[in-house]
Amino acid sequence: MLDLGTTLQGYRIESVLGHGAMGEVYKVRHLDRGTVHAMKYLALPSRKVRQRIQREAQSQSRLSHPNVVGLLEVIEYDGDPALIMEYVEGPTLEQWLETAKPTLQEAESIFRQILAGVAHAHRKGLVHRDLKPANVLMSRTRTGLVPKVADFGIAKIVDASGPVGSQAALTRTGTSLGSPAYMAPEQIRDAREVDATADVWSLGCLLYELLLHRRAFEGADVLDVMNAVQDGRFTAPRELKPELPERFVRAIDGCLKIDKDDRFESCDEIIAALDDGGGATVATGEYRSESPPPARRAGSEVPGAGRPASSVAATVPPLAVAIGAGILVLIIALAAVLLR
Ligand SMILES: Nc1ncnc2c1ncn2[C@@H]1O[C@H](COP(=O)(O)OP(=O)(O)OP(=O)(O)O)[C@@H](O)[C@H]1O
Ligand SMILES: [Mg+2]
Repeated sequence: MLDLGTTLQGYRIESVLGHGAMGEVYKVRHLDRGTVHAMKYLALPSRKVRQRIQREAQSQSRLSHPNVVGLLEVIEYDGDPALIMEYVEGPTLEQWLETAKPTLQEAESIFRQILAGVAHAHRKGLVHRDLKPANVLMSRTRTGLVPKVADFGIAKIVDASGPVGSQAALTRTGTSLGSPAYMAPEQIRDAREVDATADVWSLGCLLYELLLHRRAFEGADVLDVMNAVQDGRFTAPRELKPELPERFVRAIDGCLKIDKDDRFESCDEIIAALDDGGGATVATGEYRSESPPPARRAGSEVPGAGRPASSVAATVPPLAVAIGAGILVLIIALAAVLLR
């Protein structure tokens, strides 16, 4: 833990934002520029891993997207790296979902934005490997909440830092017990053998939870969750919400195939499934909430869903409107004739 007021290469620590499996996150201010950032201070086990994080950070800094938390630079303090990131004001998706019950429209809007961020990273050759609600930050903007995906590629550094059973791996599995719930079956078997389709699996878990308000894979303990994932055992979406449109069912099913060869290969395939059957076509509309933006600290009170200002427009085909109007005119004309 670093003391408040400590200055690291021009960044002064102002407050603690939260703790994760790999270290603490602080709110920092750059003394010269006056800019505010989030700083993740990582306690890493070896010099090899520290070098790796520098390399990974270089590829991460290539990402520039409204739905990805930006990475500015990596600095060093006491031999350990600290990631200087865009500061996001708002709850994590995990915190937000504790009280919010998003409607289908809200869920779709949020999901499509997350998808846009992940697709951008995939196009740049980056896989996330640890997509979960805790790694999506819901940024409060003047117009509403905008999801931003955090921690791109960080999991890779830890997973590759040693064989299973190494100190780093143990620390990680010991402290991020929620993660297997969103992890692809092949990733649970061997964390070093994953590609973009592992993210596709996690996206399926996120979509499921956003639409149905419960996790796809649950269990009494971590082992239980892992078994459910390995067996691909989840409650059918329509059992929980019979009115769920088919395109959502297909999108979830395409993501949650145990065998990654059967799974959707890319974010584009998820988008195609969602667009299928005349679904909403707004790709990156902002989710809007009318709830006032209360001051927030990590772990503080999380606001409810609020009402959306229809960021995903309901689409009524113009032909249907024309036919409806035509029938109405006929009925009126017929009534006029009969009443004469
Ligand atoms: N860029 C950021 N801006 C504002 N707050 C952040 C930022 N990144 C992280 N936080 C806060 O710090 C907390 C801890 O984040 P961290 O990534 O260390 O843990 P985690 O996501 O819960 O777990 P993991 O270590 O598996 O990623 C988050 O829950 C969030 O509240
Ligand atoms: Mg995180």
